[in-house]
Amino acid sequence: MKISPVNALKGTLKVPGDKSISHRSIMFGSLAKGTTHVSGFLTGADCLSTISCFKAMGIHIDRQGEKVTVSGKGLRGLDKPQSILDVGNSGTTMRLMSGILAGQNFDVQVTGDASIQKRPMNRIITPLSQMGADIKSLVGNGLAPLEIKPNTLKGMVYNTPVASAQIKSSILLANLYTNETTTIIEPAPSRNHSEIMLNHFGANIQSEGCTIVSHPIDELFANEVVVPADISSAAFFLVAGLIVPNSEIKLLDVGINPTRDGIIHVLKSMNGQIELDNIRTINGEKIADIIVKSSQLTGTTVSGDIIPTLIDEIPVIAIAAAYAEGITQIKDAAELKVKETNRIDAMVAEMTKMGAKVTGTDDGLIIEGGQPLHGATIETYDDHRIAMSFAVAALCANGDTTILESECIAISYPNFFEQLKSLI
Ligand code: S3P
Repeated sequence: MKISPVNALKGTLKVPGDKSISHRSIMFGSLAKGTTHVSGFLTGADCLSTISCFKAMGIHIDRQGEKVTVSGKGLRGLDKPQSILDVGNSGTTMRLMSGILAGQNFDVQVTGDASIQKRPMNRIITPLSQMGADIKSLVGNGLAPLEIKPNTLKGMVYNTPVASAQIKSSILLANLYTNETTTIIEPAPSRNHSEIMLNHFGANIQSEGCTIVSHPIDELFANEVVVPADISSAAFFLVAGLIVPNSEIKLLDVGINPTRDGIIHVLKSMNGQIELDNIRTINGEKIADIIVKSSQLTGTTVSGDIIPTLIDEIPVIAIAAAYAEGITQIKDAAELKVKETNRIDAMVAEMTKMGAKVTGTDDGLIIEGGQPLHGATIETYDDHRIAMSFAVAALCANGDTTILESECIAISYPNFFEQLKSLI
């Protein structure tokens, strides 16, 4: 995809549904008794992988565009799939579903694409094994494919070394198959969509600060899910609206759950003009319309407990930093190395091609902002968020930019370029 610089971005958009919440609506809907109606579902490839895995386990799922009906069969209603489950590129599907599979009465194998087969799975194998699960990496290297066999699960107290919603959620889902209480203690709060939605479906999960306590229940019950627009997708237009001169963009119905809204705080601290309007809560998830206007950004430091609340937005925050005056330092974000690609290395390599001054560290990035960027040919490493971050960078660069293999954007944002064009 070739992208040329633009003079202004103006208009109103609703970005697609939240990826994390869309995955959970299918998984929890499948495990609940009754029919779950989902609206605003993200039709990105990752969430379609979740649908195909649960269909393969005998769940009837009907999708008409962004509306999905899941005919749940209760906690013990899944059937053994005929073949290995394939999560595609989706870490969320792999890790959350493994927690569910640990509690089933059938053997199953799970795999995914080349990127998934490089991402660490010991982070779920270790806690699930501590609960009694029979789960192993088939090759024995801590990576997918995984094999999971039936075993009796028990509750536990687990101090998770990483603030990861995927680890936490995998444990919470396995705990649905115990009649005991499980306590998870995180180093910093990670996104809490599982806790909110599971409770909405009748679970009994209490959270205070970094401690999450899940009490036993007999069943989950179907409920309505309204998926907010994904703040991680809105992030690209927040940054684009700030860095492209003469811009004003309104983003509708964006999820601003406090465990996800770090980017808003960071961009405001960089002098970004961002306003939240029409703030409301639907089924426990906070939502707002967001208005963003072009701003002269300044550098900042991003570190500590805010990191899990913006982990997926760091690539595009790095682009904002390149267009800001002064230095931006991103620390405590070593998790970037185990996302769809090593996002520290990818950002350093590709930003440097565009003329940015950027250094990778062990746990983040240092960006000396204010250098003029020029167009370049960008590799995406098949990482949707890297591709979209550089599409945003290209809007203010000198000359044209080519984003190679930009099809990977369909993982989370199939209509990204159409929506971008609608603002030009
Ligand atoms: C997700 C959690 C995050 C995030 C990922 C989606 C989720 O991963 O990066 O895109 O839906 O639970 P970690 O939990 O590993 O940080």
